[in-house]
Amino acid sequence: MCGIVGHIGPQGSVEIVLEGLKRLEYRGYDSAGVSFVDENNRIQTYKKEGKLQNLVNSLEGKNIKSECSIGHTRWATHGKVNDTNSHPHNHESISLVHNGIIENANDFRSELVSKGYTFKSETDTEVFLALVTVAMDDGLDFREAIATSFKKIRGNSAFVVLNEKTREIIAVKKGAPLVCGMHDKNSQVLVSSDPYALVGLADKIYFPEDEVMCSLSGANQNLLSFTELDGTPSKRFISKVQEMNFDPTDKGDFEHYMLKEIFEQPGLIRALSQYYFSGDGESRLEKISKLNPRHIYLSACGTAAYAGYVIRDYLEKFNRIVTTVELASEFRYRNPIIGKEDLGVFISQSGETADTLAAQGLCKEAGTETVSIVNVEGSTLYRECSENLLIRAGVEVGVASTKAFTQMCLTGRLMSFAMSGDFKNEAKRKEIVDKYNLLAERIDEVLDNEHVIKEIAELTYNKKGYFFTGRNHYYPTALEGALKLKEIAYVHAEGYASGELKHGPIALIDEEMVNIAIVGPDLYEKTVSNIQEIKARKGIIISLGPKGDKELEEMSDYYIPLNYDGLDELMPIYVNVVNQLLAYHMAKFKGTDIDKPRNLAKSVTVE
Ligand code: M6R
Repeated sequence: MCGIVGHIGPQGSVEIVLEGLKRLEYRGYDSAGVSFVDENNRIQTYKKEGKLQNLVNSLEGKNIKSECSIGHTRWATHGKVNDTNSHPHNHESISLVHNGIIENANDFRSELVSKGYTFKSETDTEVFLALVTVAMDDGLDFREAIATSFKKIRGNSAFVVLNEKTREIIAVKKGAPLVCGMHDKNSQVLVSSDPYALVGLADKIYFPEDEVMCSLSGANQNLLSFTELDGTPSKRFISKVQEMNFDPTDKGDFEHYMLKEIFEQPGLIRALSQYYFSGDGESRLEKISKLNPRHIYLSACGTAAYAGYVIRDYLEKFNRIVTTVELASEFRYRNPIIGKEDLGVFISQSGETADTLAAQGLCKEAGTETVSIVNVEGSTLYRECSENLLIRAGVEVGVASTKAFTQMCLTGRLMSFAMSGDFKNEAKRKEIVDKYNLLAERIDEVLDNEHVIKEIAELTYNKKGYFFTGRNHYYPTALEGALKLKEIAYVHAEGYASGELKHGPIALIDEEMVNIAIVGPDLYEKTVSNIQEIKARKGIIISLGPKGDKELEEMSDYYIPLNYDGLDELMPIYVNVVNQLLAYHMAKFKGTDIDKPRNLAKSVTVE
């Protein structure tokens, strides 16, 4: 949630910050803004409601020269979406951007007003700005004022604060992502909410721990330094060489990132098994193979939680370990029974989801071993867990998660394999590799037939509502299919276990309701009976079922034949790709903003 970038360097500071914001726009796009110190040593701020492009347009022809700037893309929490509530927020010589929530902001407002501060916005962020500037008015220096103010607030937040007078940036965080970077050759220092913003700009990156203050200053000074809140030097950070390499601006021939990412899946699947069986991943799996927990808690949010259901089925089927899927936003509030004999597995694309991190923290506190299934190496979740399994999905820019789901499920399957005792068995390994390659092949076939799915989407995108149904292993796919459709097409969609529909929701079925029925080879007859029940009430049936199934084809309004042969436990992952394309094309016919759907953000760093 919210992208933040700060930069100090010899030239082009604002351009660099804007480039960083462009990479982070998927974190929030309600508004965007920059503040920079101009040639007269004065802060200038530009901010605009809406997408980053609005801000870029407003800066056109301005010929800005600056060596020190900060920027922000907003996902609104407190205060309406408008120019005034956009970040950065300024007062006197200070400008700041914020990612997170100040839970006790209202406790300070009246006192700050009585001390002469006049609030301009409705944001919680401005309360921090007011605390800092009032503390400076009371005689504290810049660093002390930030430290004192930071100690007063509650909630997960990261701040990046610019001081016009000292041309210095100080950043500090608690429970929110923050990364600093430095490029030795051209003496530039950066700070951001996401390492992606620093790719190509910093050759060394630093992940500070909570409550470590990061000071960025210009050349001839101490470029980057870390202190504790009390001002003593801090060593509480991890530094590493920047290894990421990507061009997030490249959509290739695809109209949207989401479509590009759907099409990347076969290649990623093939590479995943190589990484884990004949690459660097092997040692990671080997460590996992030694675990023998009593109970596995899989915890995650959204699509990652649905991947968790798929993985649960693997762990129960192949390992016979009691496994439960816990929505991270609920898990910690019900006082779960967790202990040293158990294992917590946390699934996340970003590795920064606040609720997932909190669930991990809870397990760690209870002495439970924690493992991540995660995409972003070096993310907070990655650093907090004792072992990590990377899903190797590459950068996922589309806010709607597609390839990450597939890679999460497949990484989970490898985890289950590693824990089965067969980790060193070459024949069994080959079986898995072959199956992954077969899945990639079958997904290629689905992608080749994209036009069929597109035609069905064109005929059905304007209906009243959508039920995705599936039984047993296909139920998670039904949940994920519905989530994808609602988040990008803005239509009401629900994922339901096929057998549950008659316990209430069937009342909604009429000729304007669509049932996307996932039919696998197992529990076939029961699933088909459930389709008949919907058909009898005039519902429109789109069936995703075994190829050559004449009976199913006849009872369906639209039928998408699938070749399940040989895929076994990977079938739900395969069929999910059809749902991804269906959602994509329905959204396209609706004309929505597919890569940046309204109200959403890629990385949800608030609880
Ligand atoms: O980064 P994470 O995988 O932890 O994110 C979890 C959810 O916020 C995410 O999957 C969300 O549901 C997606 N927008 C779904 O497409």
